[in-house]
Amino acid sequence: MGVELVTSQLPKVFIARPPQGGIPDRLRAVAEVEVWPGDRPPSKAELIAHASSAEGLLTSVSDRVDLEVLNACQSLRVISNMAVGFDNFDIDEMTRRGIPAGNTPGVLTDATADITFALILATARRVLEANEALLNGEWTSWNASFMLGLELSGATLGIIGLGRIGLAVAKRAQAFSMRVLANSRTPRPYAGIENVSLDRLLRESDIVSLHVSLSEQTRHLIGKSEFELMKPDAILINTARGAVVDQGALAEALKSGTIGGAGLDVFDPEPVSLDDPIVTAPHVVLLPHIGSATVVTRTRMAEIAIDNLIAGLIGEPLPNCINPQVYGSR
Ligand code: DGY
Repeated sequence: MGVELVTSQLPKVFIARPPQGGIPDRLRAVAEVEVWPGDRPPSKAELIAHASSAEGLLTSVSDRVDLEVLNACQSLRVISNMAVGFDNFDIDEMTRRGIPAGNTPGVLTDATADITFALILATARRVLEANEALLNGEWTSWNASFMLGLELSGATLGIIGLGRIGLAVAKRAQAFSMRVLANSRTPRPYAGIENVSLDRLLRESDIVSLHVSLSEQTRHLIGKSEFELMKPDAILINTARGAVVDQGALAEALKSGTIGGAGLDVFDPEPVSLDDPIVTAPHVVLLPHIGSATVVTRTRMAEIAIDNLIAGLIGEPLPNCINPQVYGSR
């Protein structure tokens, strides 16, 4: 496996995942760029081997930058995540070391809200089951009770986490004439959205959609006891982070009929193993973490991630900095 390497006196950056659109000249003008060439992400040992002498690092959600990596890569002056979420970073340790870290907020809101709605429609209206039934020759005549699903108009959508993406999903739901409930750490008044307790949201919603970031507070936020509060035909949608849900408990809840279905774009861990019980659970629609996967969004994410990287290399504040405290402490 060869690597793309240009030798110069410029600071070295390691790009762990090639960004959409390639490496722009404005980065090559300020850095010696090494791009990981594989389709799979580098292992931790490979990440360390390539980033140990780098001053800048560009990562994706699959690259964990933890204490071990930071200890092994002492030259790092900037770390840029090509994602809005940064649960793959030990952000406290980066802040302690004065290393600015960047992310790409805002630009993936609509793409992620769209894929959330694709999952809502696909699960509620049994799109994959119906497609499979047709291909299996089961469509022999029009049948009044064939493939009946949930009508979105008038149904209740419960949104957990009313940040940018949660709100964009709520607006789409309102366009479908759904009733919208929300549960958010920082309640955000918005016409037609009622902020309620988590218990009430789980009890009253036909569809529950997760839009919180992953933290110690939100890990396994939804597990066995939460599924037991939900309606037996309720659908869970997760386009946030897999570990917000206890995935084993979800597979059980689907198999036992405690809830009615699930649409998932994220898993714990990723990629999900085909042996994982969630893969064979009934009434699931599963996607390979493609929430932000549109050409426009991935291009904008790449631009922002590169801007953050360049700013860090030339000693400017990152345009999208996760830990701006680093500037105060310098
Ligand atoms: C993000 O930006 O956090 C997304 O999950 C990556 O697609």
